[in-house]
Amino acid sequence: MKTKMKKWWHDKVAYQIYPKSFYDTNGDGIGDIQGIISKLDYLKELGIDLIWISPIYKSPFVDQGYDISDYYGIAPEFGTMEEFEELLAEAKKRDIYIVMDLVINHCSDQHEWFQKALADPEGEYADYFYFREGKNGGLPSNYRSYFGGSCWEPVPGTNKYYFHAFAKEQPDLNWENPKLRQEIYDMINWWMEKGVAGFRIDAIINIKKDVNFPDLEPDGPDGLAGYSRAVEQTHGVGELLEDLKNNTFAKYDAFTVGEVFNMHEEELPEFIGEDGHFSTIFDFSAHCLSDGEHGWYDALGIDFNQWRKAIVNSQLEVQKVGYKANIIENHDEPRGVSRFLPEYARNAAGTKMLGTISLLLRGIPFLYQGQEIGMQNCVWNSSEEWDDISSKDQYQTARAAGVPKEEALRICAEMSRDNARTPMQWSGEKGAGFTQGTPWMKVNPNYSKINVKDQQMDEDSVLHYYQKLIALRKSKEFKEVFTYGRFAPVYGEWDNIMAFYRILDEEAGQEVGNAGKRVLIAANFGKDSVELPLEYPGKKVLLSNLPENQAEDNLTLAGCGVMVLECALHE
Ligand code: GLC
Ligand code: CA
Repeated sequence: MKTKMKKWWHDKVAYQIYPKSFYDTNGDGIGDIQGIISKLDYLKELGIDLIWISPIYKSPFVDQGYDISDYYGIAPEFGTMEEFEELLAEAKKRDIYIVMDLVINHCSDQHEWFQKALADPEGEYADYFYFREGKNGGLPSNYRSYFGGSCWEPVPGTNKYYFHAFAKEQPDLNWENPKLRQEIYDMINWWMEKGVAGFRIDAIINIKKDVNFPDLEPDGPDGLAGYSRAVEQTHGVGELLEDLKNNTFAKYDAFTVGEVFNMHEEELPEFIGEDGHFSTIFDFSAHCLSDGEHGWYDALGIDFNQWRKAIVNSQLEVQKVGYKANIIENHDEPRGVSRFLPEYARNAAGTKMLGTISLLLRGIPFLYQGQEIGMQNCVWNSSEEWDDISSKDQYQTARAAGVPKEEALRICAEMSRDNARTPMQWSGEKGAGFTQGTPWMKVNPNYSKINVKDQQMDEDSVLHYYQKLIALRKSKEFKEVFTYGRFAPVYGEWDNIMAFYRILDEEAGQEVGNAGKRVLIAANFGKDSVELPLEYPGKKVLLSNLPENQAEDNLTLAGCGVMVLECALHE
């Protein structure tokens, strides 16, 4: 990596805040901006450089803020614009960058653009959206929205329908309309001028439509075809993304991370290459393993070998091109500990092991709130306990497919997005220390065992381990190898072993003013201890999660053991 190709964000460690569930300071049971401000020191101590905040714009919260009714306003539930500015200033004092969520595939049906479009369905604002007449006495096309039901909803008083890829309260914006695009660009630049460092860009692949909306082969008993299938068949999103970038992000050297599913794999260089549409995109390759054909109910469980293969392949492909952002969980996914670890490993050792793998992969690590203390999926006793629109839909879908009640509940409880949305567990006190009032969403009953306060007092805790792990990644001596070092898998033929090297060869080392280095990261996802022959002599143990792990001529890893070992660069 030539020094001139280095970007300011390459070595950053990021943290996602889901504001509604982070920290409530005024007792209304809803997390708020003051709550984020008051935890900045906590995040700084953890080693965080950059925070992505899920949407805090004005919203009816049909999809928890991903339905924006005013892009220029802060939701009163969270605070005021002055408080947001205070957050920017306080973050800056601590060298922390703030990244906003950018939801521009759709807005809320309460947004003034949509209200004006409804008021005058022939007028200029109607063309901010996709208003279409039906075909053959039916809907304009047979697409199923991501949250269930048709993508088309009647425009009252007309023979037209409007398009929505997500909920009907989230009408899609017409990116073919240059006026609409300009409104979006102005808004983005306004936030950049305010001092945000960039954006996480929501559902962005969906902005390109085949505006003929051709019918597709139905893929379910409802006679509809999932809209993602239409996205897969559509080309030309790149032109829109370049236009977006050149009119906004590029002018500010912004950091952008795209939420991208269903892209054409051969387009990866255009997305995240040197001059890509985005700085980076999230790596969902492990998460997509549990995509069912028809929904959560026919998803397969995640098998260790598949998981390992998915990550290894992704790392090998991506490093030819750029960087992806690595996650184990986010606000749309169940907790990683409950998903990627076998049951016997859902403890502190296993949690540390999973975190080590995720954070030392090549790419930009994104932690999700609570990951640093090992938060787990919640216990759900009934579908009534969910707030999430998608969990409710998936439950109905499973029931409609004939899955018995208990089974549908069990499956959806495992996959529910609400697993990640339960309040952050700050302490063992009532309300998990998240609020003095009544939390807006169920608190995971395990908060008395898993919480920040207890872990701060325990040197051996998951939280302290994460602090050390991040500190190692950012240390003067190892920063270069963990940021720019090549990824090379090893011990791939061993059962239950996930292991790789990060390598900075001498030449690459010189370019970045650092000697060459080789670091082995090896994890034993099995129950029993394993002895691995070392290919390169070990030099120094940089991190280890269990006292039973040993590095001598061989590397001994206890069950659920992980070690980070500096090795000789050459044999
Ligand atoms: C993204 C968000 C998700 C939201 C959807 C629609 O996938 O992460 O939370 O429901 O877009 O905006
Ligand atoms: Ca509050």
